[in-house]
Amino acid sequence: MTFSIIGTGMYVPPKIVTNDDLSKTLDTNDEWIRQRVGVQRRHVCTGETTAELAYQAALRALENSGCTPEDLDLIICSTISGDLVSPALACVVQKMLGASCPAYDVNSACSAFLFLLETAAGYFARGKVKKVLAIGAERMSKLLDWQDRGTCVIFGDGAGAAVLASGEGYIDSTISTKGNDEVIRVPAFAGESPYSTLEPERPFIRMQGQETFKYAVNAMCSDISKLMQNNRLTAEDIAYVVPHQANKRIIDLACMRLRIPIKKFYVNIQEYGNTSSASIPIALDELNRKGLLKRGDNLILSAFGAGESNASCLLKW
Ligand code: UT7
Repeated sequence: MTFSIIGTGMYVPPKIVTNDDLSKTLDTNDEWIRQRVGVQRRHVCTGETTAELAYQAALRALENSGCTPEDLDLIICSTISGDLVSPALACVVQKMLGASCPAYDVNSACSAFLFLLETAAGYFARGKVKKVLAIGAERMSKLLDWQDRGTCVIFGDGAGAAVLASGEGYIDSTISTKGNDEVIRVPAFAGESPYSTLEPERPFIRMQGQETFKYAVNAMCSDISKLMQNNRLTAEDIAYVVPHQANKRIIDLACMRLRIPIKKFYVNIQEYGNTSSASIPIALDELNRKGLLKRGDNLILSAFGAGESNASCLLKW
């Protein structure tokens, strides 16, 4: 036994920051950002916390699934930008929802929602749960150096959620990690220990853009090919590929190499930027609410990110 997705939800903060807005304070411009990344605008938190984003997405997913917080056996959040180091974001959301099940976080940067699904699948396989709330929530704006044009134009804030229930929808998956902490790095805030001899690092995202780009295209292509081969699927058998929304050019290149028509790749980076582990559940909710998914459709979700951790899975809707 594994799970099927029975409801989805998303939430983004109302504040929109356009490329033109950014170019007022940074040496950048709308044309560069659209062409090199594909982002037109992003939603950015003002007074909202990461927990509030997660809570709002969770409410919408629960409503969409017809479940209540009491029905939940487990809550897992993926995040690298929770409000607190401890307790976990999932614990805060559990309290906000009034649920009483176990709750914890998974951190695998932008791939974390798919690592989360793999974790949840283990609980279903052992018959330990019937309903799981999965949430990807990120307030990337607090991890950005807003003077660094190489990173701050890319990311955005938001949350997506899905309710998983016992079923046969999670067909296959592949996850891997190389353990690279150089291409993308977000140092944790360092305390003030009088004994520490370590040089404190600024707690903002640093990224080697081109290295990450190459890794991302290769990871997506090899993961998706593997799933298609293992499950004897051709491009015609796939209804949608839901890629992590990191850069439209990464998606275009992967699409060309995989020979899957671009119309099958769901893209919304223009609206939200890269929302890290929230990007896939946000895209899934949009597909669901637009009525683009039919029961029995094959979907491939595909993500990559820091740690050179990447994952893809095959879902039957
Ligand atoms: O979710 C986590 C995974 N992350 C990713 O997948 C990110 C992957 N990498 C990328 O998306 C791209 O590498 C970036 C969008 C980060 C950068 O695009 P690029 O085409 O690799 O640009 P670049 O870093 O090679 O820079 C090209 C030029 C440079 O100027 P010079 O040296 O050629 O004069 C940069 O200084 O573009 C300049 N540049 C900008 N210009 C205007 C860099 N950022 C900007 C900017 N506006 N925001």
